[in-house]
Amino acid sequence: MTTPVAIITGGASGIGLAVTQHLLSPPYSYKVVIADLVPASTGIPLAQSLGPNCLFHQTDVSVYAQQVSLFAKAFEWGRGRLDFFATNAGIDDRESLYGVGVEEVFEVGGEKVKGPRELNLKTLRVDLDAVFQGIWLFRYWAGRNEGRKGGKELKQWTCAIVMIFKAVYY
Ligand SMILES: NC(=O)c1ccc[n+]([C@@H]2O[C@H](COP(=O)([O-])OP(=O)(O)OC[C@H]3O[C@@H](n4cnc5c(N)ncnc54)[C@H](O)[C@@H]3O)[C@@H](O)[C@H]2O)c1
Repeated sequence: MTTPVAIITGGASGIGLAVTQHLLSPPYSYKVVIADLVPASTGIPLAQSLGPNCLFHQTDVSVYAQQVSLFAKAFEWGRGRLDFFATNAGIDDRESLYGVGVEEVFEVGGEKVKGPRELNLKTLRVDLDAVFQGIWLFRYWAGRNEGRKGGKELKQWTCAIVMIFKAVYY
């Protein structure tokens, strides 16, 4: 029988690290992939300190191709299974409503037009888009678990709901 496998995004600190440690411990005893932005020089020693059932995979969840790489690696490392996914990675607001006064010149169809700089939506890309993309990918790989039913998702709904309200506020 193989060991169950989990991916925890943002697993290098805070709540994600606590979930990682919890899943690695008995009676759960999962294999856990920590997917986080932190550099390999931080993530690899962290995973090693948590034992052989923990792997670090440097990932920016807001880049779809990096999430694909994460899931493919986790599935291979877990010997063809994936059971649990926590879309925990997140950042706080990176935009100021007062920043609307900063102007830039844009070139469209050969004409120059001045207007406020583009709104920074990085928080939505990390806290909302990447959550749905991750669930999409989890469904794909968990559905390929050999002879087993596909796993469990723990979603970052609190943050997603906050960000939806924030988007309406903007
Ligand atoms: N702590 C709270 O009170 C609270 C409340 C509501 C929601 N949340 C959400 O819960 C989650 C965990 O909170 P926390 O306090 O442990 O946060 P934290 O800042 O301690 O940890 C977040 C981790 O996510 C990583 N990360 C950030 N952007 C990333 C990206 N693009 N790709 C991959 N990894 C990325 C960071 O490197 C960090 O290790 C966050 O999403 C946060 O927004 C936290």
